[in-house]
Amino acid sequence: MAKLLSYKEISEHKSRDDLWMIIDGKVYDCTKFMDEHPGGEEVLLDLGGMDATGPFADIGHSDDAVKMLADLYVGDLDTESEPVHTKEPEPASATTGGEGNGVFVLAVLAIVAAIVYFYLNKS
Ligand code: HEM
Repeated sequence: MAKLLSYKEISEHKSRDDLWMIIDGKVYDCTKFMDEHPGGEEVLLDLGGMDATGPFADIGHSDDAVKMLADLYVGDLDTESEPVHTKEPEPASATTGGEGNGVFVLAVLAIVAAIVYFYLNKS
């Protein structure tokens, strides 16, 4: 049976000389592949220890690239394990979405009120 690896265990392999990543629920050791990657090592390092399914698919990697994964396979992601939050919390400026929504709701209310006012005063 395939080795099950937890998010936490995978997240510990994120350095230049020990780099794992998750793609489609499978875990790959990209350490040796980093030098050969046509897309450069930086993109791989950025995703070290993380789930790279989205970025890998977004690039539109070729079938050859997908086949290469087989050689790097180390095990399967334990989907029951607790996800690890490796990203820093969003900066304050990015979390003001709530306020933005409030302004939007107020604007809609003001427009509705103006329309109602217009119709009530028409006759
Ligand atoms: C271990 C996983 C990966 C393998 C085996 C792999 C393999 C490859 C291969 C073979 C190519 C050449 C084009 C192709 O055949 O599709 C390529 C290109 C590329 N890869 Fe990856 N890749 C991996 C992960 C990633 C990840 C996680 C990213 C993050 C965004 C990435 C970004 C890119 C980019 C940007 C290129 C385009 C390079 C260019 O043509 O300028 N790759 N990769």
